[in-house]
Amino acid sequence: MKPREIVPGVQYVGAQDFDRRLFDALIPLPDGTSYNAYLVHGRDKTALIDTVEPAMLHVLQAHLKDVPRIDYLISNHTEQDHSGSIPWVLERYPGIELLSSEPAKPMLVDHLGLDAARIRTVADGEKLDLGGKTLRFIYTPWVHWPETMSTYLEEDKVLFSCDWFGSHIASTDLFVDGADCILAEAKRYYAEIMMPFRKIVQKNLEKIRALDIRLIAPSHGPVHRDPQSIIQAYRDWTDDMPHNTVVIPWVTMHGSTAIMVERLVNALSERGIAVFPFNMATADIGKLAMALVDAATLIVAAPTVHAGPHPMVLNAVILANALRPKVRFASIIGSYGWAGKMADVLKAAMPNLKVELLPPVICKGLPKPSDLEAIDKLADAVSAKHRELGLL
Ligand code: FEO
Repeated sequence: MKPREIVPGVQYVGAQDFDRRLFDALIPLPDGTSYNAYLVHGRDKTALIDTVEPAMLHVLQAHLKDVPRIDYLISNHTEQDHSGSIPWVLERYPGIELLSSEPAKPMLVDHLGLDAARIRTVADGEKLDLGGKTLRFIYTPWVHWPETMSTYLEEDKVLFSCDWFGSHIASTDLFVDGADCILAEAKRYYAEIMMPFRKIVQKNLEKIRALDIRLIAPSHGPVHRDPQSIIQAYRDWTDDMPHNTVVIPWVTMHGSTAIMVERLVNALSERGIAVFPFNMATADIGKLAMALVDAATLIVAAPTVHAGPHPMVLNAVILANALRPKVRFASIIGSYGWAGKMADVLKAAMPNLKVELLPPVICKGLPKPSDLEAIDKLADAVSAKHRELGLL
């Protein structure tokens, strides 16, 4: 594919990876992904913003085949899906100057083995004049790593945001206009890598509030022609107030936990609460992460394997603990055969969650009528807590 213009003088030179299905050996990619890179041509100088995942280097090489000179390579983010092809670019253009944020410099050395002498750091707010195209560097830490920065093209009002506002989707369409499907993909991406830094993302949103943005050109997924749509979505996702929803990661072995989950889903639903149950034996963990973005309550449902919780449910709790969603309340339900410390292990696995723990409901073997009544009481307790928050 030939380079395509996103605005006059700015070309897309990234790669669409339709076949990739897993990122970081953890994150499902149902729609593939892209590694976006952009070439900005000024009157006097040319700058390349980010590179591509090394596995797709051939695409970047094809895009740059007829580009004899590039003056600057701007690394917005050190993670290898954007920086991994920097060594090839430095070799292909020996005179190129590699620019990064100050925190990125040692990380580029650590992760890519680059010579520190080849990297010039730019300050927050510093500008680079290419001749009729002025790039301004804006430090936007923790979207997704601590060193991340965004680059703003002043004349054309384009924000090159790297990971934030991005989405894991491969497409031949370079642009999107606030479509719901892209917001869902972008929410999945926010949930998976930026939710733990929600408070800092809020600060970054304030930092760019005054910017006049016409296009947001992220480093994954399509370019946003309706920037306010994705910015507003980020404001909602990072807002401190959760929604009237409950997330239930669960697994069953012989049916007891499934009976409890079904009772709880119905009881919560009858009380006007939206419920998102995820059977962890088959669940897409990206969808679990998305549901955690807004949830007010997390209820973990597990059978007992030997003395502890089923590992698939424990895995969901470890993930939730790492993602640090804004949930306010949590509880545990489940069953055991003869003894066990299932609830204790699960409680100990969620230290990062600043939640009020509602009384667990643990039964021995098949749930009895009294166990199911306890589930109804748990639903009452969740309902009361949501009402206190003004969610109901
Ligand atoms: Fe797309 Fe954090 O790299």
